Amino acid sequence: MVKVEICIGSSCHVKGAGQVLDIFRERIKEKNLGDKVELAGKFCIGKCTEGVCVTVDGELFSVDPKSAKKFFEKEVERRAGV
Ligand code: FES
Repeated sequence: MVKVEICIGSSCHVKGAGQVLDIFRERIKEKNLGDKVELAGKFCIGKCTEGVCVTVDGELFSVDPKSAKKFFEKEVERRAGV
């Protein structure tokens, strides 16, 4: 199980955390990854200037809604073994 956490703090929210979450959800549905990837929200982790902050198995990344799909393919699907 790959654990993906998205910051739901206000600064990341303004930068599109909701959109990033939607894109991840969509991708999980599309590729049927519900049993391989776990999505969760996370409170502000103090890296607001680098938002949208996303961690994948504890590793921190900065994700933009525009690059969210590519990011998911590269960092999450790879770890999930798809
Ligand atoms: S709001 Fe996301 S790191 Fe602070």
